[in-house]
Amino acid sequence: TKDWNGVDKIVLRSPRGASARVSLHGGQVTSWRNEQGEELLFTSSKPPKAVRGGIPICFPQFGNCGSLEQHGFARNKIWTIDENPPPLGPNDSHAKSFIDLLLKPSEEDLKCWPHSFEFRLRVSLAADGSLALISRIRNVNGKRFSFSFAYHTYLSVSDISEVRIEGLETLDYLDNLCQKERFTEQGDAITFESEVDRVYLSTPNVVAVLDHERKRTYVIRKDGLPDVVVWNPWEKKSKSMVDFGDDEYKQMLCVDGAVIEKPVTLKPGEEWTGRVELSVVASTLCSEQFDVQRGM
Ligand code: BG6
Repeated sequence: TKDWNGVDKIVLRSPRGASARVSLHGGQVTSWRNEQGEELLFTSSKPPKAVRGGIPICFPQFGNCGSLEQHGFARNKIWTIDENPPPLGPNDSHAKSFIDLLLKPSEEDLKCWPHSFEFRLRVSLAADGSLALISRIRNVNGKRFSFSFAYHTYLSVSDISEVRIEGLETLDYLDNLCQKERFTEQGDAITFESEVDRVYLSTPNVVAVLDHERKRTYVIRKDGLPDVVVWNPWEKKSKSMVDFGDDEYKQMLCVDGAVIEKPVTLKPGEEWTGRVELSVVASTLCSEQFDVQRGM
């Protein structure tokens, strides 16, 4: 099937009716629905240039601290489908339905980022509806190179004022609103009452986003992704974004598994893997379950 811009998209389905939609434009997950058909990822209702929402891939640069376009070029490229993907590994054993997308640099890309890489993105949907993204980036030949990376994950929330994040308390973060100055988180859990644009450092491998009003908790499990970006543009910035409604900040929160502070360096032939798994549990069960998972 075709996406909004005529580019192919793929739909993965679980036996019980959960689904995920992936576009070849950017290798971007643009929809993730639970078994009840409820959308779990935010996407803006504003007519898009590229979809504002879902899970854009930020590579080989996060943000604008480099010579490349904001968040790198991967999200603006047309990816290809690997028709003969390697078999599922032990980490994917729960996956019922998956797709492998590939990105290799074009002549044009090599002019602005002269490194031969192969990027394999596996998107898989488990029988229980959880969504996993695994990125494998390989230095195919040539010189060593470094990159930063993020799964820019736009979660759909009922009302940002009712949401809190657990798992990042007491950690250090870089604040993008203050010249990337370093601060230490003080509170019990992170809540929202103004613009937030932070990179939390050396984070645990499980972080939870609790949506009190919807009684829904997103559990984010990650590997190879030490940092977590937390972003909500709030009122003023929303008004300045052309592809985002003035009030849409209330219904979204970005919580991204990322590698930013210490970029990954790959020697020729080396490969890096970064994995994120998103699942949803009913909030009534969550606090207890989450504590168990974190070994508390
Ligand atoms: C966030 C950055 O992750 O992405 C913000 O920290 C940025 O600074 C936001 O505004 C959105 O970026 P973009 O390029 O998709 O508008």
